[in-house]
Amino acid sequence: MPKSLISIHDFSKEEILHILDIAADFEKNPNQPILQGKVIATLFFEPSTRTRLSFETASNRLGARIIGFSDAGNTSVSKGESLKDTIKMVSNYVDLIVIRHPLEGSSRYASEVASVPVINAGDGANQHPSQTLLDLYTIRQTQGRLDNINIDMVGDLKYGRTVHSLLQALSLFDAPQFTFTAPEELSMPNEYKEFLKERGIPYHETTELSYGLNQADILYMTRVQQERFSDPMEYEKVKNCYSLTASMLDEAKPNMKILHPLPRITEIAQDVDDTPFAYYFKQAKNGMFVRMAIISYLLGYR
Ligand code: CP
Repeated sequence: MPKSLISIHDFSKEEILHILDIAADFEKNPNQPILQGKVIATLFFEPSTRTRLSFETASNRLGARIIGFSDAGNTSVSKGESLKDTIKMVSNYVDLIVIRHPLEGSSRYASEVASVPVINAGDGANQHPSQTLLDLYTIRQTQGRLDNINIDMVGDLKYGRTVHSLLQALSLFDAPQFTFTAPEELSMPNEYKEFLKERGIPYHETTELSYGLNQADILYMTRVQQERFSDPMEYEKVKNCYSLTASMLDEAKPNMKILHPLPRITEIAQDVDDTPFAYYFKQAKNGMFVRMAIISYLLGYR
C-alpha cells in the first residue's frame, strides 16, 4: 500500500520536521514545477474554501494537473455508487487523491482501497492532518520553536477535528501546556484527555475565555460547527459561546499569536484583525506551502 496521510500519527516526528523544512523552502521559492506529468484528484464530499483551493494551488505550483469535484451531488455517488468504487475508479486516473468526507474513518478506508497515496482533508470530527502540519509550521514560524508551547484551545473542542490532530502532534514535542476552553457541551472528549494523561502532559479545563488568555503563546480559536449538531436547539445554546475582541488582549503576552483554522463566524471580532496578535490569514497562506511539501513528499520527490 502506498504511504498516505490519514492521521497525524502516520508521520513520525522526524517526518513532520522534514515536511516543515520542505515547506519553508517552498515559501522562499513557491514555483517549483517538479511534478509535471502528474495528476492529482481533489474529492470533496463536504464544503471547503481553504483546504481544497490550497491543495489545488499547491498542485498547480508544483506543475501537476488537477481533476475532482467539490459537490458529490454532480457525480455517480448521487446514483448510489459506493465510496469504495469511487476511490478505485479515481485511483485508475491519478497519482494522488485528496479527500474530504463527513464520515469518520472514511479517509482511512479510502487509503485501503486506493492504489495511490491518499491525503485526508478532514473526515467528520476525527482528523485533519494537513491542517495540523500547517498549524505546526505556523507555530514554529511565530514562536521560533515547537517545544514548551503554552496553547489555549477555545470553542468547539468536541467536534473540532483540527484541535484533536494538533493536540496529538504537539505531544511529540517537549513540555506542551494545554488549556481547553469550551462550554461543557463542547468539552474535549475523554479519549484525548486520556491520551495526554498517559504521557504525563498537563492540561486545564475551563469555560472562561479569560482563564488561559494571558499565559498563552498560541490562542487557537475554533468555530462552533453547526453542521456537526443533530439537534438544532443544542447548536442554538452554544453558537455564540465566545467572542474574542481586541479589548480583551491588553494583557496578552507580546509573542502571543491567534490562530484559527477558519472559517470564523462570531468567535473573533473584526477589530482583532488589526492587532499584532492576529495571524490566522497568514496561517491559511502557509497551508499552500505545507501542502506543496506533503504532496511532493508522498510522491517521493522531496
Ligand atoms: N481550515 C479549513 O479546513 O477550512 P475549509 O473548511 O475552508 O477547507
